[in-house]
Amino acid sequence: MHSESIPPVAIRLINVKKHFKDRDVEALGGVNLEVAQGEFISLIGPSGSGKSTLLELLGDIGDEGGPSEGEILIEEKTPQELRQARGYGIVFQDSTLFPWYRAFENCLLPFRIAKSGLPKGEQIKRIELLLEMVGLDRKFWPYYPKELSGGMQQRVAIVRALALDPPLLLMDEPFGALDDLTRKSMQMLLLDIWAKTRKTILMVTHSISEACFMSDRVVVLSHRPGRIIRIISIPLDRPRERSMAETKAFARICRMVREALGSGGELGEDTSIKN
Ligand SMILES: Nc1ncnc2c1ncn2[C@@H]1O[C@H](COP(=O)(O)OP(=O)(O)OP(=O)(O)O)[C@@H](O)[C@H]1O
Ligand SMILES: [Mg+2]
Repeated sequence: MHSESIPPVAIRLINVKKHFKDRDVEALGGVNLEVAQGEFISLIGPSGSGKSTLLELLGDIGDEGGPSEGEILIEEKTPQELRQARGYGIVFQDSTLFPWYRAFENCLLPFRIAKSGLPKGEQIKRIELLLEMVGLDRKFWPYYPKELSGGMQQRVAIVRALALDPPLLLMDEPFGALDDLTRKSMQMLLLDIWAKTRKTILMVTHSISEACFMSDRVVVLSHRPGRIIRIISIPLDRPRERSMAETKAFARICRMVREALGSGGELGEDTSIKN
């Protein structure tokens, strides 16, 4: 008999603290977390609880360098090594596309930045496949970002993040700027991409229902300095279907997250936690 194999750990955070010296702000107060390869994790917490700081530390793109204390390992690498190995893709709330490049050229940029040895024809083929996967009609591929809708821009941003096929996707409120309908279709799209590519995904969101609907586990952070108050496993089947969000079980899960958020000290700064 074979026992079900446990996927290896993709991310290990050990007592990660971040103190911004210039502003004397304690952003993170000691975060411990293990994320398995291929897991979909959402981070939720009040505004200022250090969610973006945590993603920046993982991506080694933060101001003032790495953690003030503690250790971060991703795929057996330090964040610096991971960044140098182009081991993650990142997506922000704003698509952060270069306005003077066409959508397709924006997607090719990671190859140029990484000085990829992949032949140009292969690069183009890969981007074509990814653009098809995110459902961006060919007609729009030569468009400039400002000629695309917000949802289309985020599709392009996701393709750019996946261009080099990194094992990890970091997403900071990727759908926060989209209208409700577009947001819901982007959620389904991301779940589909995740199922096809089996990336490890760490997504920051302010939406309780988005976190619960998409994730394997929801990590709830406290008011600043951010600490993990609770980790809630989501017992819904895969693939997720929209109708699951209409069930009593789903409402119960959302309530658990809401209660955890409420117990995390003052939510004074938080104006954006919503369903
Ligand atoms: N580069 C920086 N220098 C100084 N302080 C910073 C810096 N970046 C973030 N902070 C501070 O760290 C704290 C955490 O910020 P962070 O942006 O990580 O919060 P967040 O949880 O992402 O909030 P939001 O939900 O509003 O995006 C805040 O008090 C913020 O002012
Ligand atoms: Mg943030």
